[in-house]
Amino acid sequence: MKIVHIVGARPNFMKAAPVLFALRKHPQVEQLLVHTGQHYDERMSDIFFRQLGMPRPDINLDVGSGSHAVQTAEIMVRFERVLLAQKPDWLMVYGDVNSTIACALVAVKLGVKIAHVEAGLRSWDRSMPEEINRVLTDQISDLFFTPSTDGDENLKREGIAPEKIHFVGNCMIDTLVRLLAQARKPGIDGLEGRFALVTLHRPSNVDAPEELERIVQTLSELGEEIPVVFPIHPRTRQRLAGMAGVSPGAGLYLIEPQGYLEFLWLQQHATMILTDSGGIQEEATFLNVPCLTIRENTERPITCDLGTNILVGRDMERLKREARRILGGDRKTGTLPPYWEGQAGERVARVMAGVADAQGIFP
Ligand code: UD1
Repeated sequence: MKIVHIVGARPNFMKAAPVLFALRKHPQVEQLLVHTGQHYDERMSDIFFRQLGMPRPDINLDVGSGSHAVQTAEIMVRFERVLLAQKPDWLMVYGDVNSTIACALVAVKLGVKIAHVEAGLRSWDRSMPEEINRVLTDQISDLFFTPSTDGDENLKREGIAPEKIHFVGNCMIDTLVRLLAQARKPGIDGLEGRFALVTLHRPSNVDAPEELERIVQTLSELGEEIPVVFPIHPRTRQRLAGMAGVSPGAGLYLIEPQGYLEFLWLQQHATMILTDSGGIQEEATFLNVPCLTIRENTERPITCDLGTNILVGRDMERLKREARRILGGDRKTGTLPPYWEGQAGERVARVMAGVADAQGIFP
């Protein structure tokens, strides 16, 4: 049985790696790795392949950046040629980025079955591009691998047959478990002792200048109480560059996007994490580091229910209050969600190998 895996953007790499590795143990499965090129900078893509020990992509579509329509359409046009030439039995897609839905749409029209890893998550906020990508990808998928049981419930409510849903746990955490011992301290001039770690890249936070200015102002104030380390996503850097009025305070360390191992070290040693990312809410929960999420909602409610995550919305006074509470030693602790222990990729691979056995198709 032949499987094509799709990766495109930074968070895809840590989810696909454990599945690729685990499937190598099943000789009835032939694998091909396609990178759409949605992320292409050394620091957004190549460094992850190296640090995660991933095989080089067999094919890179080199689509690059663009508006949602341009990027999605370009991926579809280029990927259709690949799919027609490769004729896989299954497409495996990861997460909720534009590459996920674009390739899934191509596959479903060509009659190629789709397995979605990280299926079923819902923020219920359709102003998020990722929510559209998740809902639509799940509507056209054939197999569903969920990281937490809320995903199972959401899918069943949307009419997905329960036998197609497999609760496997969190593939992103597999990568964290594998590489935690190799986490390494990045060199940041002048940084000593405790620090808070920040990431921001959601369009809702960074695309409107007044919103971004309010957040940077708050982070600068927080920087007077604890150093704030802020690796800047390219989208956010562009927005900041266009804003003459913003002057980050002295306690704010604006640094380049970090490699996986360096960012892992920063997360592990942070006093708190402030973020609008999805995956970082999960990693903070695994590492038992307090996390304040600068969003009104989350598609990962389990990180609030069981983990260390608190949704502060975009209320900057609340953000400062919660941050000060953590600085004062009053911090939320959490427990690990089930199956967040490093074996999710193995579970995915066992299901896919079973599908191959049942189909009796060998490479
Ligand atoms: C994408 C995902 C988001 C994910 C994030 C992780 C979608 C809709 N969004 O958002 O879910 O959380 O990746 O990073 O798929 N850029 C570079 N170098 C790169 C890639 C991008 O400079 O290697 C710049 C470009 O100017 C680009 C902008 O960043 O226009 C945004 O990139 P894009 O892939 O459109 O979305 P992200 O904001 O990265």
